[in-house]
Amino acid sequence: MILSIESSCDDSSIAITEIATKKILYHKKISQEAEHSVYGGVVPELASRLHAVALPNILKETKPWFSQLKAVAVTNQPGLGVTLLEGIAMAKTLAVLQDIPLIPVHHLKGHIYSLFIEKETLFPLLVLLISGGHTQVIRVENFEKMEILATSMDDSVGESFDKCAKMMGLGYPGGPLIEKLALGGDEDRFPLPVPLRHSPLIAFSLSGLKNAVRLTVEKLGGASEMTEQDKADLAAAFQKAVKLHLLQKSKKIFAKEAIKDFAIVGGASANKYLREAYEKLCKEFDKTMHVAPLEYCSDNAAMIGRYAIDAYERKQFIDPNEIDIVSTKKQQAGMLL
Ligand code: KG4
Ligand code: ZN
Repeated sequence: MILSIESSCDDSSIAITEIATKKILYHKKISQEAEHSVYGGVVPELASRLHAVALPNILKETKPWFSQLKAVAVTNQPGLGVTLLEGIAMAKTLAVLQDIPLIPVHHLKGHIYSLFIEKETLFPLLVLLISGGHTQVIRVENFEKMEILATSMDDSVGESFDKCAKMMGLGYPGGPLIEKLALGGDEDRFPLPVPLRHSPLIAFSLSGLKNAVRLTVEKLGGASEMTEQDKADLAAAFQKAVKLHLLQKSKKIFAKEAIKDFAIVGGASANKYLREAYEKLCKEFDKTMHVAPLEYCSDNAAMIGRYAIDAYERKQFIDPNEIDIVSTKKQQAGMLL
């Protein structure tokens, strides 16, 4: 069995996965959404302190499996440095105490592997990853070979939902709040710009759209002066513009890539409005769409454990003295490997 730990942002999570069957024997996640909500976003030091309390509490529950552990896996990049270190410290300690190998896991590869929880892998695969930190289209040939085809130039999809929700005084995380509000909104009331519409670039950018939302909020007299209907209409208009932007760039990639299987992963892949739009696009391009079960779209240790099974088979271990978080510069350069 593999014990896996995830603490890259504001979710403390641990899972136990059986290597031979890929079954999840234990999985728990403690989210810090309520604690960060008052600030409209994640406060790194607060997140780190909350992990320091939550992780040992979850770990206690996994004691029955300790004697059967073959490895311990932990997210070591990308993410918030101070929160990654909480998970890493725990994983290093366990590896040393139990005398078992340590497996470092790239968080974004974990999101890709959320598709394969309790399942076999499916390669090759074209993946749209939309999370709080990233927007990327990745060609996944196999475990070893993953290539980024398009990436965000500024705010990611999840981040833009969070920031727009904050501007409208909705709380955190903004994704589910905006999606719900948009259901009762008129998506055509506010004409928001579709980012990079006339640009040949195959890349994503949402900071301009975010500013357009800010200007609209200001025109309406600020969040406190907006009616519930104003907020619903603006949420719907914003979501529509995000959808059109993602679809426009994805179409260009679909036209070039012969790979039949397409998947959406990451926290924002829980968004039904976006999922439906991509289902239509996949039909148009004769692709099969895949998504992870809703509970595994956002950060969790089960996806880290599933990736770790494939890493274990390839003996991709690291010395506890060597494991570290990767610098933000490398992350920004779009390094997936
Ligand atoms: O993958 P994730 O849990 O963490 C990162 O790796 O970043 O993604 C979290 C992000 C947040 O920004 C959250 O607002 C967004 O996913 N999100 C959504 C939805 N549910 C979560 N965005 C849009 N629509 C949703 N339904
Ligand atoms: Zn994530």
